[in-house]
Amino acid sequence: MKAFDGIKRKDIQWSRDSLIADSLFGIKVAIIGGTNGIGRLLALEMISKGAEVLVVGRTFRDDNIPRLSFMKADLSQMKEAKRITQQLPAETLDMVFFTAGIMAGKQRSESDEGIEIDLAVSYLNRFVMIREISERLGKDRNQDTFKPRVFVWGFPGTNQKGNLSDFNSEKSYSLMSAHSNTVIGNEALVLDSALRFPKINFFGMNPGLMKSNIRSSPLGEGSWALKITEMFIGTLFPSVETYSRRILPLLVSHDIENHSGAMFNRHGHAIHTSKFLSQQSGLANVIEQSERLAARALR
Ligand SMILES: NC(=O)c1ccc[n+]([C@@H]2O[C@H](COP(=O)([O-])OP(=O)(O)OC[C@H]3O[C@@H](n4cnc5c(N)ncnc54)[C@H](OP(=O)(O)O)[C@@H]3O)[C@@H](O)[C@H]2O)c1
Repeated sequence: MKAFDGIKRKDIQWSRDSLIADSLFGIKVAIIGGTNGIGRLLALEMISKGAEVLVVGRTFRDDNIPRLSFMKADLSQMKEAKRITQQLPAETLDMVFFTAGIMAGKQRSESDEGIEIDLAVSYLNRFVMIREISERLGKDRNQDTFKPRVFVWGFPGTNQKGNLSDFNSEKSYSLMSAHSNTVIGNEALVLDSALRFPKINFFGMNPGLMKSNIRSSPLGEGSWALKITEMFIGTLFPSVETYSRRILPLLVSHDIENHSGAMFNRHGHAIHTSKFLSQQSGLANVIEQSERLAARALR
């Protein structure tokens, strides 16, 4: 595999006039983690413009909406992530979004497959699903004007190093270090997949802080700490509704077509890859750790 040669991110200019289509009728999207938060709002926004959307998650909140369907899955289990991927209508999909995520609690907990729970839900299932789906993705779709697209939400471009000597937090655990491992995993996944699967375009999305349910585990579901934190975040930063409405034109813009591997911030501006991952050894190390853990979970 060739080294990741970097993307001239500041050179990616895109405009709202460069949409794949004026309406999204005929566009098919799967949103893994589309049952709440950013994924859910993106699903509703795309449906309002005519797209057909399949959401994957644990709890469906949007019954009886035309062109919206649901697949139930617990993405903390890699075997389930693999099974769900095999059931997805991958050949006809134009786009896949990965928005499922959590922030783990103060104590380490792990899935039945032995994977630290934040790593499992916020990252490793995406790794498994992308490896499983990429050969099939978009093979029978009608569109020939753009390649199938995969968007991975996380916190890219923030130069987090994680702890690669203990990627599964088995020797020691801290919430922030475990979450950092998911951040670098997701960023590495975009860069590696862009090189590995040239028939698909991969992009990393950093929405910045946003009021949502994601901090409920560390702060406690329904707790005052959670309410105050989310109120504070909600006052300072855009809502998921505003973000989804603003970011959608980027997701369906022709202008990003030749920029697989690019990362974008909450405004849709291209951002630099974390330095550590722009070196091939850093990227290869993360992918090696991910392959090892995924293989162990899938045994
Ligand atoms: N909000 C922020 O401040 C922020 C900041 C930076 C990055 N991000 C990134 O943005 C993405 C979306 O976050 P969000 O704020 O929209 O989070 P959210 O509101 O908590 O939504 C998370 C989604 O993940 C799904 N999910 C959680 N655990 C699952 C499991 N075990 N199996 C299947 N699905 C599961 C949830 O589905 P169910 O409800 O059906 O279980 C929900 O659809 C994440 O990648 C996150 O890292 C968010």
